[in-house]
Amino acid sequence: MGENTDLPPLTHLAIIMDGNGRWAKQRGLSRGEGHKAGTETAKEIVKECRRQGISYLTLYAFSRENWSRPKNEVNFLFDLLTQFLQQEESSLLEQSIKLNVLGDWQKLPFSVRQVVKYVCNRTAGGDQMTLNLALNYSGREEIVKACREIVSQGVSPEDLDESVFRSYLTTGEQPDPDLILRTSGEYRLSNYLVFQAAYAEFYFTQKYWPDFDASELQKALEDFANRQRRYGGIGE
Ligand code: FPP
Repeated sequence: MGENTDLPPLTHLAIIMDGNGRWAKQRGLSRGEGHKAGTETAKEIVKECRRQGISYLTLYAFSRENWSRPKNEVNFLFDLLTQFLQQEESSLLEQSIKLNVLGDWQKLPFSVRQVVKYVCNRTAGGDQMTLNLALNYSGREEIVKACREIVSQGVSPEDLDESVFRSYLTTGEQPDPDLILRTSGEYRLSNYLVFQAAYAEFYFTQKYWPDFDASELQKALEDFANRQRRYGGIGE
């Protein structure tokens, strides 16, 4: 597959990786096996996005709502995340990919915070792609937290506009997602990038996340390329 030089620019892709559990169930495997397979997919898709020249990739790795899962599944997810970061550190460095975290990740277990901090620092110079991992993320909470911060810093109402407001979000100065992709046939945003999604295009596929791959990504990119983004205008 060549680079998508003939396609309109897709700067920021955000993905809701869904369906690990159902993928496992279908095969008589444990949910953990599904998450393991999903982690391998995440590795492949990071590489493919970098190869395609996408500047920002955001993966919804753990939502605030995911705490309600059984404790052993939550712990398993954190173990997988830790292994993912340990295994991918050198590959991220090689590919000049910077790791960044969205969400209230300070509430994650100490060992996870340590590895997150370490890999973020190690890859801080990556200038080819930013990989955002949304961890303990809630879009609404991100907005409320921004408001809290703005009020506590005494920002005056006349100085507050959209661009000032967005600088208080965990995506900071990053461009909004152009495309939000969700796997597993669910058609929901699930509290993901609520502010940032205002003008995003959406792509849904029936594929479970562990079955998603570079060729499925290609389909999504081609679909996106055929969208007419009018941003409220009437187009050409
Ligand atoms: C959805 O499957 C996936 C998650 C809860 C997020 C976890 C994602 C991974 C383990 C992929 C790996 C990513 C990284 C960066 C380590 P689900 O359990 O909701 O599936 P179900 O809806 O079929 O039960």
